Amino acid sequence: MKNGGAGFSRRAFLGAGAALGAMAVVAPSRTGFARVPAPFVPTRTLTLASGEAELRLLGPDKPATAIYAYDGEPFRQIRVPRGTRLEATYLNGLDEGSSLHFHGIRMPNEYDGVPPLTQPLVQPGGRFVHRLPLDDPGTFFFHPHCDETGQAGRGLVGALIVEDPRDPHFDVDEVLCLKDWRLADDGGFLELSEPDGASKAGTFGGTRTVNGVPVAEIAVPAGGDARLRILNVDSTRIMDIGVEGAQAWLIAVDGHALPPILLDELPDGIWRMGPAQRIDIHVRMPLKGGPVTVGDYRAADIYHFATLRADGKRARKPGKEPHDKGEPGKGAPDKGALALPRPELPFPEIETAELHSFTLQQATDAAVKNLGLPPDDPLAKALVASFCVGATTYWSIGQISWSTGNRLGLPPPLAVMQEGRSYRIEIKNETRYPHPIHLHGHAFYVISSSKGRLPQHFADTVLVQPGEAVEIAFVAAPGDWVFHCHILEHMETGMMGWFRVI
Ligand code: C2O
Ligand code: CU
Repeated sequence: MKNGGAGFSRRAFLGAGAALGAMAVVAPSRTGFARVPAPFVPTRTLTLASGEAELRLLGPDKPATAIYAYDGEPFRQIRVPRGTRLEATYLNGLDEGSSLHFHGIRMPNEYDGVPPLTQPLVQPGGRFVHRLPLDDPGTFFFHPHCDETGQAGRGLVGALIVEDPRDPHFDVDEVLCLKDWRLADDGGFLELSEPDGASKAGTFGGTRTVNGVPVAEIAVPAGGDARLRILNVDSTRIMDIGVEGAQAWLIAVDGHALPPILLDELPDGIWRMGPAQRIDIHVRMPLKGGPVTVGDYRAADIYHFATLRADGKRARKPGKEPHDKGEPGKGAPDKGALALPRPELPFPEIETAELHSFTLQQATDAAVKNLGLPPDDPLAKALVASFCVGATTYWSIGQISWSTGNRLGLPPPLAVMQEGRSYRIEIKNETRYPHPIHLHGHAFYVISSSKGRLPQHFADTVLVQPGEAVEIAFVAAPGDWVFHCHILEHMETGMMGWFRVI
């Protein structure tokens, strides 16, 4: 049994892969409505091997950096059609324990990749097979869930694009992975976490990149439509994404479509995005005119990370797309946004949902007192055996801190929930720093921000500003799911908890 100590549970059964397929056949469907799981038959099989790769991050004539990557490919990209049954085998080629987590994917809990909660740590040379039903289209990503500051900080992240054949036609579809690097002049890494960063806004990198290069140059037909899938895969940095020189719409957040919003109509004309958050932007290229730039406007020092240039061709005549409101043959800029199909996600019953409220705090002594499971509990043992925790406690959620180096032991769940029921969670930020808060295994609905800052939308991570309260709601899926800040140092120094859904 992989799920340390959980025993043979119904959720393991529901989530079982091919190995349990035979049992699914024996389980009789007495009522006719019994949820007998279809056996998992992979339609796509692949391996993802973590290891080192060389990347010239400091410039063409400067020393290269030995980064971490999947299959030797920086920001490895997987594209599969919606409905794919993906069997992904993680091979750990690092010299430390690791795991693979598919961020934002709704899946059986046992494939979630969180040692020690859902699986043991994958030792060097070890492997773990994930079986994922990819029914939600969108822009997702994957990364390790152990020593993330060290491993994702060195570049170990990849993009998972689940394509939807029902999507409107875009002339260009580009994945843009934004990540900074903490580099010394010799190309090696500086300390990826410093106490002053971990206990405050995080430890920042000074070399900014998109897909491992300083700027992405993208050719788009004049008047054409570009879909930019922008992923903040940085460990620390919060970014304000904006577009200059063209009309652009926000069409999806964390992979999930929303009714298109003109970027210019958002406060300050930007979308603020913390680590792990993704957006899909539709840029309509002008028929004439200068290049279009996409940038992070948060710092005084604006980082223009993508330039879109007309490639001389004209966009193909519109008219076939179901969402096209333009008159055929007329100038493309008069068309509206290309909306994506509405997401097919369980929608929570917000009115009747049970409310839980959690406060994000700087850890106090009260918060770090040992609330763990007894040391002989199998989960507690597995935790001690793993290396997936930080050394110090700086943060807490709801007065509870995730275990750290000197206080090993799994904290009690933040909440125990029932499968299929709706829950509303209020997240209050009483710290002086923003925190992008992520829940595993679900797409939650962002209901409101006390600052009136956010449109309602589905997401898997939501940024909560200092002094802000954000409310989310979701339909609970069975399993043990972590709930944490995605500023990796915050998560590793206490800002992580878990929900048990039974
Ligand atoms: Cu990107 Cu715990 O996840
Ligand atoms: Cu945080």
